Amino acid sequence: MRGIKYLLVITVLLLALAFVLTTFVFKKDGGSEETVSETVSSAESETTAEPEKKEDENIDNAWAMFLVNKKNPLPLDYDSRIETKVIFESWREYYLDVRAAEYFEKMLDAAKEDGIDLLVVSAYRTIEYQQQNFDRSVQDRVDKGMSYDDAYADTLAEVALPGESEHNAGLALDIMSQDYTSMEDDGFENTEAFAWLDKHAAEYGFILRYPKGKQEITGIIYEPWHYRFVGVYYANEIKESGLCLEEYYEKNGWLDSDDKATDMLGPVKEEKPAETAVPENTEPKETMPTTPYSEQKATIIV
Ligand code: DAL
Ligand code: ZN
Repeated sequence: MRGIKYLLVITVLLLALAFVLTTFVFKKDGGSEETVSETVSSAESETTAEPEKKEDENIDNAWAMFLVNKKNPLPLDYDSRIETKVIFESWREYYLDVRAAEYFEKMLDAAKEDGIDLLVVSAYRTIEYQQQNFDRSVQDRVDKGMSYDDAYADTLAEVALPGESEHNAGLALDIMSQDYTSMEDDGFENTEAFAWLDKHAAEYGFILRYPKGKQEITGIIYEPWHYRFVGVYYANEIKESGLCLEEYYEKNGWLDSDDKATDMLGPVKEEKPAETAVPENTEPKETMPTTPYSEQKATIIV
């Protein structure tokens, strides 16, 4: 009996000791483990992997973040990779990549609620339509007295060649408003619609793609109407940075010395195009467009 009491006392003492150890000593160790892992992760975040991981969690629509320009044309089969949907109707229907469409529709509704009626004047374009736009634009200049070479070079700064346009990817829109529809000048930037877009477009994943003062870098004139979907995360990042898309790529080390994107995100990342939609050599063409300008009724959309 005395032996049992003795055993009980020992057991109680051992339990008490175990409690003290777990509560105070191990907890303290755990705390210092946390501190160590925090130190490691903050050391990592100063170097490589950690910030990427953190950013990845916040990035929406990473598929949409890729560069389309003269140096980075779309893959030949890009058209067959996307599904488009009607996002606006006026005298005709306008389409966007379905994945970007829902963001645009929300933006359109939000603008309307704020009393702004946005007007889409161009969105997804087929490669053929882009070619027609380009040819018509050259012809228009020739008709005004420019040499063909000058007309071609001048057009290149306003209308992308087929395969080099974000419109061909179904990710770009030209947005204006009923009170201002001229693309002959920058006047759209003085409208309430432009002010609204300037303030809110990034919230819906769109950036002003050809900002003022960036023609040297983008190769395209200031286009206050041309918006490009890159996802909400990147749109906000780019807007805050004040950089154009090419500069943002450069800053992130995503461009090689020839300005070709080295880290193409989205669908283009997995399959680097072997062939591109347009030839590398973009010298002026020898022949004039086959359809006489007088027969081309549509307005030139840049
Ligand atoms: N106006 C822009 C550059 C385009 O044609 O895509
Ligand atoms: Zn455009």
